[in-house]
Amino acid sequence: MPSDSAPAHVPRHLAVIMDGNGRWAERRRRPRIIGHRAGARAVNTCIDFCLQHGIRALTLFAFSSENWGRPEEEVGGLMKLFLNALEREVDELDRRGVRVRFIGERERFSAPITRQMDAAEARTAGNTRLDLTIAASYGGRWDITQAARSLARDVAAGKLRPEDIDESAMSARMTLADLPPPDLFIRTGGDTRISNFLLWQLAYTELWFTEALWPELDAATLRRAIDDFARRERRFGLTGAQAAAMPKETHE
Ligand code: FPP
Repeated sequence: MPSDSAPAHVPRHLAVIMDGNGRWAERRRRPRIIGHRAGARAVNTCIDFCLQHGIRALTLFAFSSENWGRPEEEVGGLMKLFLNALEREVDELDRRGVRVRFIGERERFSAPITRQMDAAEARTAGNTRLDLTIAASYGGRWDITQAARSLARDVAAGKLRPEDIDESAMSARMTLADLPPPDLFIRTGGDTRISNFLLWQLAYTELWFTEALWPELDAATLRRAIDDFARRERRFGLTGAQAAAMPKETHE
């Protein structure tokens, strides 16, 4: 439940692009992987904040489909970091009631990593306090493509008619289909773009950007984001008066 000091309208689902690890390290004349390690600590800050403020779902963009193209040393370092973080954090996440899931092309990761992912998901499957989704080897275009392919398979198998394909049929095949779409998107690091994150799911999400680099993330920055969110008028394509009359849980 939200703490007493929580703002009135906390997002139910927060989606985050964690950008700026590399620059954080470069400013300190350290290797980029040091920035990613500091970024892993900021992940804990973000999870703590969600648990304290009653945010029920958090989706983090940890590694994009395009990130495989980074220098081999950085990709290798990130893989080690993911593996260590999974080994180290899963007990504590489970104890705190966090359900962990991964979205993306899992088969591109090495067997030790996919085993850890599977184990973390199985171990935390019954938890309900926070839905933590890690987007890894993920791209919004990949997500739309896999949903389209899944529908096409059913059409080819005679289980579905093309005329039955509508937005809700598509939504049901997208990743995160069981969660409300993100209410708030945060990107650190100063760039103001979505970078192939949840292209379908972010259709009506409020966007919030900060110059702060991801490893600098603190509760005060997150607090500013949700205070700003609480002041926004979400209209979902309707007039202001219509939107004000909508039930609070309506999303699209
Ligand atoms: C973007 O910063 C960040 C990444 C590509 C990796 C994100 C990884 C973490 C935060 C570490 C661990 C995560 C988990 C879930 C355990 P960048 O390198 O593009 O920064 P730059 O724009 O300054 O170069």
